[in-house]
Amino acid sequence: MLPKSNKGETMEISTSILSADRENAIQTFYNIEVAKTDYFHIDVMDGKFVEKNTLEYMKESAQTIKHISNVPLDVHLMVENPIEHIDDYISLKPGFITIHAESNGYVEAIKKIKESEIKAGISIKPHTDISQIIDVLPKVSLVLIMTVEPGLGGQKLIKETIDKIKKIYEYREENNLDYYIEADGGINLETIDIVKDAGVDIAVCGSAIINSNDMSETIKQLKK
Ligand code: DX5
Ligand code: ZN
Repeated sequence: MLPKSNKGETMEISTSILSADRENAIQTFYNIEVAKTDYFHIDVMDGKFVEKNTLEYMKESAQTIKHISNVPLDVHLMVENPIEHIDDYISLKPGFITIHAESNGYVEAIKKIKESEIKAGISIKPHTDISQIIDVLPKVSLVLIMTVEPGLGGQKLIKETIDKIKKIYEYREENNLDYYIEADGGINLETIDIVKDAGVDIAVCGSAIINSNDMSETIKQLKK
């Protein structure tokens, strides 16, 4: 993992498997690993917090990835009641488990993740203000700013969210805090510089990597 405050330097890439072709999932996971992703981003959706339900598929995929790779898992829980889903992932010892500030019982969920010696992350949707998470910032290892509405891969980055990344970066520096800043949604070769310049440490990329002809080259370019 990178040190904090890497603004303008190398950024890590977390590849979202959401858009992977389920028929060839295992081969795709191998290809992502060979392409040197820094994390596998696991988008867990319960059909309530967002429309789609990926509960079973993501649980199975995370277990498979854990078997075939040492690359850390970056688990993003888009679920109404995170406390009910945490145990499925704690046992896999992921790099991070991130939950939403718009979900029920998120403070309790963060506590449980940390007690299990896993790094906890907090995420906010594009229209949630950072004032809502100020209190938990000293308790988390990662802040995930959604740059699209959660729910689907392949959407366009919402430019208004970039200001929040800058604010969360400044807040970390001013208050001597210790979280990674991650952005998720609509990040590709055209938009990567915008999030990087705003201070992101880890960029989540799904369709930009999965749909590219050469994943290694795409990840290399994204990290430039
Ligand atoms: C959206 C998910 C993202 C998504 C990213 O709800 O959290 O991780 O899969 O996909 P792209 O990079 O295609 O926007
Ligand atoms: Zn995600």
